[in-house]
Amino acid sequence: MKRTLLATATLCLMAAAHAAEPVKIGFLVKQAEEPWFQDEWRYAEQAAKDKGFTLVKIGVPNGEKMMAAIDNLAAQKAQGFVICAPDVKLGKAVERSAARNNLKVISVDDRLVDGSGKPIASIPHMGISGYAIGKQVGEGIAAEIKARKWNMADVGAIRVAYDQLPTAKERTMGAVDALKAAGFPAANVIDAPQAKTDTENAFNAANIALTKNARFKHWVAVGLNDEAVLGAVRAAEGRGIKADNMVGVGIGGAKAAENELNKPAPTGFFGSVMISAKEHGYQTSVNLYNWITGKGVPPAEVLTKGMLMTRANQADVRKQMGQ
Ligand code: GLA
Repeated sequence: MKRTLLATATLCLMAAAHAAEPVKIGFLVKQAEEPWFQDEWRYAEQAAKDKGFTLVKIGVPNGEKMMAAIDNLAAQKAQGFVICAPDVKLGKAVERSAARNNLKVISVDDRLVDGSGKPIASIPHMGISGYAIGKQVGEGIAAEIKARKWNMADVGAIRVAYDQLPTAKERTMGAVDALKAAGFPAANVIDAPQAKTDTENAFNAANIALTKNARFKHWVAVGLNDEAVLGAVRAAEGRGIKADNMVGVGIGGAKAAENELNKPAPTGFFGSVMISAKEHGYQTSVNLYNWITGKGVPPAEVLTKGMLMTRANQADVRKQMGQ
């Protein structure tokens, strides 16, 4: 009896010590320079303030930096991290390194996979519903093609592609499927694979597609994010194809889209399906905090929604998305 009491007292003390330990959380992103990720960080900071934990933001542009960042977090006595990895195929390495360092991990945006491409079930995930959001892109473009009374036979569609990233493939295939469902000819869809998911690489990819397909009168463009579509829009401008002959719709709605939609004159960047950096940044951090402090285990998978935003409705969409 005495021993049980003693053991219970010791356990209570240990729990108290654990509870008193300051919570430190890492937030690792693959492209820190991209406005989307800066927004996620901003909302994660907000969560840190609200809940009273320390946030450590680290850019992890490649696997080596990512592994070093995870070890570094452990050395700093963090208890967990949220991650958008530079390559989803590093999933097993992330899982192992987190386990070795006794860190809890949640993925955001890009779902981590194992060697055979299967999502890693032990790592809770929050991402966008890629295919559904892609469909919103395609539907938005199809509606605009109709509004402009373009003959679909004269329209080329650039799919800025990054198919090695599952969410990127889902998004752009969703867009293409919606276009086809609206009567767009499959043969007019041109794949433009980008080497990296930024504007410069999208520009280069789109440029080749435009050069090889000068027969089209009008163009539309889709991609995994706003940067991809902006690359296509800039490439088209370089060839004299401007707002009246280009309808690009991105995904994101962060600063890159905002700047474009607020230029005095419309560009070929017609709109963007706005997604929630707030939910991705704030909620993943809170979920991790709750997990660390024993308040609850995060949901295995959360897929967030988007809303089509154009020059006409951007204020309203931002309000509805709470951003
Ligand atoms: C991927 C893209 C980002 C952003 C997020 C949203 O990580 O690379 O640009 O679109 O998805 O989940």
